[in-house]
Amino acid sequence: MPAKPRPEPSAPVRAAIRLPAELVHADELARLAAADDADRPEGWRLSPRAVRSFVVGDPSLEVSRKFYGDDALVERCIVTLMSNRGLLLVGEPGTAKSMLSELLAAAVSGDSTCTVQGTSGTTDDQITYSWNYALLLAEGPTPRALVRGPVHRALGEGLVCRFEEVTRVQPEIQDTLIGVMSDKMLHVPELDGDDALVLATPGFNVLATANLRDRGVHEMSSALKRRFNFETVRPVSDRRLEATLIKEQTAELLARSGVDSALPDDVVELLVSTFADLRTGVSEEGTAIERPSAVLSTAEAVAVGHAAALDAHFFEGGPATGAHVARQLIGTVLKDNPEDGAKLRHYFDVVVKKRAKRGNQWHKLLEARRELDR
Ligand SMILES: Nc1ncnc2c1ncn2[C@@H]1O[C@H](COP(=O)(O)OP(=O)(O)OP(=O)(O)O)[C@@H](O)[C@H]1O
Ligand SMILES: [Mg+2]
Repeated sequence: MPAKPRPEPSAPVRAAIRLPAELVHADELARLAAADDADRPEGWRLSPRAVRSFVVGDPSLEVSRKFYGDDALVERCIVTLMSNRGLLLVGEPGTAKSMLSELLAAAVSGDSTCTVQGTSGTTDDQITYSWNYALLLAEGPTPRALVRGPVHRALGEGLVCRFEEVTRVQPEIQDTLIGVMSDKMLHVPELDGDDALVLATPGFNVLATANLRDRGVHEMSSALKRRFNFETVRPVSDRRLEATLIKEQTAELLARSGVDSALPDDVVELLVSTFADLRTGVSEEGTAIERPSAVLSTAEAVAVGHAAALDAHFFEGGPATGAHVARQLIGTVLKDNPEDGAKLRHYFDVVVKKRAKRGNQWHKLLEARRELDR
């Protein structure tokens, strides 16, 4: 099916603070589609190869890398989306599960917004369909009164339906997916004739994400688990790769915030080392550290870097230093567990103090330790 031309973005879209991946990367998607002569599954806007290039980058088409780390995982995800099983991305918080899911849906379907945001209060009508009550009262259950939920839309239009944080939803509500995923159809008993049955159009599949911290996958019914292929997304463990990622993503965020200075290299290095030390429980020099319970993923490192640069730019008119990182780091680590404060103080005393002798940024980080005692 030829891809539909995308209309020019409207003024509110241009002014939005965050856009879906298919709009952010519309040019890249158009270049990939134009150069794409490989076979593509029915209902897909790009071939599997082009989908992979969109996620992991293709310098020959000026397509940037967006997901860093395991390229084989990306290929397995694409294969699952072609199959008749759903894809469930599981992993620790902040490992880019949602980002990967959005990128895959944008490349495969050209639309990443057909999404259920799972919460403990999600109901089955938010997943499948509900009614416009004014129309329902006026004309009874008619197709016009039906409000299509993400699953209804995805089945009818042949899209990838994203289901974020599926395990936060009550298990009996999660099970709404079982019928849809096995029979590839949805019954709407209130309607008559053809409207009473929505059949899946090619391109339909379900791409869910689940966080292993809040509520693991153990509460998910075995029947539903069987309908998914599970892929575990792991944190980036290579420090150099993490530094590149932090540098690129903070630069992008800063540009969007109207700040033209990037995060200095020695500050990126400090961020990567601090996060990796605290996350793994052992410093680069081999010193054992107590790991805080707060989530210290790459996503948090990017957020700390971005906020530190904003702080430095708007309050001091200069680039971020170790002192700005320290302020943000404290807010990221000290959340709900008072013991994390003691662990961070210990890290400052045994690791940062030694490194302060060798570098300016480490010295600035150490100076901010007193804020921990407030
Ligand atoms: N391997 C990676 N490649 C690219 N970005 C990454 C990677 N790991 C983490 N990130 C960072 O994480 C951010 C996205 O995190 P995202 O919200 O997708 O994580 P998540 O796994 O869905 O977390 P949660 O479980 O809390 O929902 C990205 O914007 C990026 O800054
Ligand atoms: Mg997520």
